[in-house]
Amino acid sequence: MIEDVGKIKSEAEAAISVAKTRGELGELEVHFLGRKGALTGLLEKIGSVPVEERKTFGSALNAAKTHLEGLIAARREVLRAKEYEQLGETEWIDVTSPGVSPPEGHLHLVTHAIREITHIFERVGFTRVRHPEVDWDWYAFESLNMPKDHPARDEWETFFMDAPVNGKKGKMVLTPHTSNGQAREMEKGKLPIRMINISKCYRRQIDVSHVPMFHQFEGLMIDKDVSVTHLKGVLDYFAREFFGPDRKTRLRPFHFRFTEPSFEVDISCGVCGGTGLISSPSRGEDLGEGGRSLSQKCRLCKSGWLELGGAGMVHPNVLRAGGVDPTKWSGFAFGWGVERTAAMKSGLQIDDIRILYKNDLRFLRQF
Ligand code: FA5
Repeated sequence: MIEDVGKIKSEAEAAISVAKTRGELGELEVHFLGRKGALTGLLEKIGSVPVEERKTFGSALNAAKTHLEGLIAARREVLRAKEYEQLGETEWIDVTSPGVSPPEGHLHLVTHAIREITHIFERVGFTRVRHPEVDWDWYAFESLNMPKDHPARDEWETFFMDAPVNGKKGKMVLTPHTSNGQAREMEKGKLPIRMINISKCYRRQIDVSHVPMFHQFEGLMIDKDVSVTHLKGVLDYFAREFFGPDRKTRLRPFHFRFTEPSFEVDISCGVCGGTGLISSPSRGEDLGEGGRSLSQKCRLCKSGWLELGGAGMVHPNVLRAGGVDPTKWSGFAFGWGVERTAAMKSGLQIDDIRILYKNDLRFLRQF
């Protein structure tokens, strides 16, 4: 038996000394010293060794084990050093070869527009605020000069919540516009006000130019002696900053219950430059310098102007509802859809606004 220890030891020594990789060495370690290895196998046979020889046999086994462990550790070091030496040959990179950039995502068109709109208004002292998307009837309608059962409410095609009704504030609604933020902002009791409230809105509408969930941005400025001139100045500033330096706005008389006077705001068309006409070469003619051209109606706007949203001077009843004295303070407000404003800027003709929320990457990657 004791000779077997010597035999296995010499066999292992020979194999360890020629092992070429650390992987190979690991396999030898398992083969000779592992739980089911050759030396352990001998130990299990100790019962068949005569009693007087057992001690010598056990010591020889332990000595062989310690010796081989030492050999393996030393060989491992040698091999590791060799591997590092060869690293330059086996693992090198060509630092001059062009990189492979991983595909990168980007913000959704609407998120991007919200950030841009926020920054534009912040530069002229408006603070971005957010008021509830689920709010009381009082804020969505009544404080905005639209008493219960007033027919003007119909235009907002509102989703009402199946929730407890509040005595003064009425039912809960999914806010159909960001104008609910007007009385809420005034209630804070801090004047003057320059807010830009950007939030989700909900209406029971869906067609090519309407989605049931959309975003609006609502500007509200309340101060001493605020006039329509200030409103026009801010709108023109926004149009130039968001759409480009040549763009201007116009106000058309309109009617909202919560503003007086009220306006629809249009922006000059970016395709025809506000003329409503575009030039195109006459048929079969190469339009060189001085060549003739035919004028056609602009296919985007047809009139030189595109509709942006609503605006007006805050109605005295709305100021009162917010606890602001209309004899001392005045203000303007405007509210536009983010989706339509962003689509208008994109330059792409989005003839169905619903595509913005279809998550079709072929469409979204264009921005
Ligand atoms: C309002 O909601 C008024 N609160 C705006 C306002 C604020 C006027 C302050 C005066 C003072 P209107 O219903 O027109 O107005 O909506 C404003 C804009 O929201 C629209 O021009 C459009 O851009 C956008 N919008 C309205 N409904 C939808 C919809 N279902 N999907 C997408 N955008 C919509």
